[in-house]
Amino acid sequence: MDAESNDSPYAGTLRAALTDLLVDQGTIHDERVAAAFRVVPRHLFVPLVPLEIAYTDDVVLMKRDESGVAISSVSQPTVVALMLEQADVRPGHRVLEIGSGGYNAALLAELVGPAGEVTTIDIDEDVTIRARETLDAAGYPDVRVLRTDGEFGGPESAPYDRIIVTVTAWDLAPAWVDQLAPGGRIVVPLRFRSQTRSIAFDLLEESLESRSMTVCGFVNMQGAGAGHEQYVPLHGELVSLTFDEDQESEPVPPERVLDQPKASAWSGVLMNREEPLSDLDLWLASTIPGYCVLSAEPRALKKGIVAPVPRWGASAMASSTSLGYLTARPAADPDFVELGANAHGPAGQDFAELLVDQVRSWNEHLRRGKGPTLRIDPAGRPLAQLPPGFHLLKRHNQLTLTWPGWPKECGGVS
Ligand SMILES: C[S@@+](CC[C@H](N)C(=O)[O-])C[C@H]1O[C@@H](n2cnc3c(N)ncnc32)[C@H](O)[C@@H]1O
Repeated sequence: MDAESNDSPYAGTLRAALTDLLVDQGTIHDERVAAAFRVVPRHLFVPLVPLEIAYTDDVVLMKRDESGVAISSVSQPTVVALMLEQADVRPGHRVLEIGSGGYNAALLAELVGPAGEVTTIDIDEDVTIRARETLDAAGYPDVRVLRTDGEFGGPESAPYDRIIVTVTAWDLAPAWVDQLAPGGRIVVPLRFRSQTRSIAFDLLEESLESRSMTVCGFVNMQGAGAGHEQYVPLHGELVSLTFDEDQESEPVPPERVLDQPKASAWSGVLMNREEPLSDLDLWLASTIPGYCVLSAEPRALKKGIVAPVPRWGASAMASSTSLGYLTARPAADPDFVELGANAHGPAGQDFAELLVDQVRSWNEHLRRGKGPTLRIDPAGRPLAQLPPGFHLLKRHNQLTLTWPGWPKECGGVS
């Protein structure tokens, strides 16, 4: 069957409705991205789900590992659209996609047009076989599909104007930077301090600098670039703490720290229930010693072991004796909550107050600003040559997170 006979008017109607939704909710601004969404038949890339599900704004899980962890998916349309907007792909561009599913590669093929080139690579042969078949069925035989570890990029077709990584990365692999054309851009879901942000980095002469940053979630990178976050179970695994891989020597609190009396502090800072906490989380990650992320099972909340925390985890602060974490309580206006902190252990009151002080600083100096920018330098570059900010050493690179209007008196950990 050719690509056209694999499509149908009903699929076209569902596709148009999904595209309209992404435009109306402000995810898609670029008409070329909208046009690509209107033509690429997503249902052909997720053949095992009904048409209506294929055109719902949801991720479609394609594969789990032996322990049940998701390792491959066709990404949620909102996330795909956000990253394509960040990438600003132009006709004639040469693009590398790391992490294949077929769908995003087809959208990229639409964006680069006949003068451009798209290469998509995946570490998993099941995925590349499926991507090849579905791209052919959908009418994109020119997209190159390769099975290889994305940590080493795709040297065969380098250099690239754009590299889009669609799997959570712990650092920017040196190969990606080497394979980027002058003036090129990498869009990557980068994980640091247990948070993931899709970040568009432009290649400058001596470094890469972020141009945009948005919250996202992806399956984790496998292979040579796989990460090793430290996971600390508390209360028989009902609660857990996650530390970044450079925090191995960070002290962790006792397993039953949450049984110790609770101290609380309240900030007076109100948040609309819909307002994202993502920039505040990065601010706390930049300024709080012993920063980690606390996640809790719903049962831990029901049993009163922890106060409410966001589903994706709360910013927290740990030492060998104590633990504090960000929480919220209802405000007088039902659309708002007040941010505060709970803490346990001998340093509990100090931890709760320190967290709340930083919430107030963020509220006063940064909340209405543009948000942070991230610069990437090779790991060997001396700190003295880097701009001031929060410095974080990854495997290959030195990250510098800078806040326009960074209030010096609030300090920052390096
Ligand atoms: C979220 S899926 C990609 C979604 C896809 N871009 C789409 O069109 O919807 C992530 C993929 O990354 C792949 N992956 C994981 N580690 C990888 C690595 N080191 N190199 C290349 N691919 C990798 C997984 O096998 C998985 O298929």
